[in-house]
Amino acid sequence: MEDKDKKIVVPDKKIIFDEKEKISRRDFLGLSAKGAAATMIAGVFAPGVGSMIGLGSVAEAATKKIKPFTFAVLTDGHLYDIKDHRFDGMFMDAVNMVNNMKPRPDMVVYAGDIGQSGLKSELLKGKAMLDKLKMPYKVIPGEHDWYLDMGKAWRGLFGDENWSINHNGVHVIGMNSIKIADFWTGPGLTNEERMGRVLELECNSCGPWGVEEEGLEWLKKDVKKVKPDTPIIFFSHSPLWDYYPRWNFATKDAPEIRDILRKFDNVMAIHGHVHQVVFNKIGNISSIGTSSTSWPWPYPPVDLPYPNIRHNRLDPGDFKDGMGGHHLSVAEDGSGTMYYDPFNPSAIPEAVKRGVKL
Ligand SMILES: [Fe+2]
Ligand SMILES: [Fe+2]
Repeated sequence: MEDKDKKIVVPDKKIIFDEKEKISRRDFLGLSAKGAAATMIAGVFAPGVGSMIGLGSVAEAATKKIKPFTFAVLTDGHLYDIKDHRFDGMFMDAVNMVNNMKPRPDMVVYAGDIGQSGLKSELLKGKAMLDKLKMPYKVIPGEHDWYLDMGKAWRGLFGDENWSINHNGVHVIGMNSIKIADFWTGPGLTNEERMGRVLELECNSCGPWGVEEEGLEWLKKDVKKVKPDTPIIFFSHSPLWDYYPRWNFATKDAPEIRDILRKFDNVMAIHGHVHQVVFNKIGNISSIGTSSTSWPWPYPPVDLPYPNIRHNRLDPGDFKDGMGGHHLSVAEDGSGTMYYDPFNPSAIPEAVKRGVKL
């Protein structure tokens, strides 16, 4: 790690990535209002390319009720029940990184996959590390946390799988998006066999996952009285769009979720699971993928939506390359800027280091 003193270090290195290099620093840092975003889209990018709005969108309605704040995001630690496994150190590095951020984040959200095999011992190990955070934290489950005992240990340690909080004028939602219809009772699978199937990157017998009917009902109720100009930050383990369903890089009821959230001016949807930098924008929802603290998944063989920014994995011999944490700054106008805080800063493209407007 270059940040030996555990401070966040973002060196000003030249990183090779494609046409996004043409976007100047000002375009990423200087835009915080609707008018400025419109200028960027018209002036910097070719006009008429709607999908380019991915980086430029900000809250439609500036509200005066928001007190700016920062919170951190950690995800996909995949801890094993093995003493001094290297993922333990990377998880703890991320916790230390967050504790040393200035300004200190108000809270942390952990976006799923604390454990690797769903063992209570793995979840306990993760909880002990998360308990070292100097600020409150919330957790949502990933599939690796859940399918050994159907969430029993997870619920016992972390509470409700669907939750929401209001913070400084922003409504923050966390949901369990990894619920799969029963594929195990019919063939008589044991708990371990069920977990084993879910662990496969491409599990043909598992079927797609989502929040299911119960989750949709919960969400409808949760946002019923929230005003449309309230910024929403939505956490799910899986993306709210069909990125690559064969690897469950998708949420089966994402269209219904997007429908429920359609009334809001601005939704920032942050997900884990994909272990990589990826973006999308669908209507009022900016979607952003997060890197893990364990390993990077390969990019699936599909075209990425604009902006097609990927991790730079320059050094395959560096086991921390492409991993790390993130933090999100929410401004007074309700817009958010996501920053990647990688262990190895050269793994992250310049455009992402400077902050991605949501
Ligand atoms: Fe994961
Ligand atoms: Fe996952």
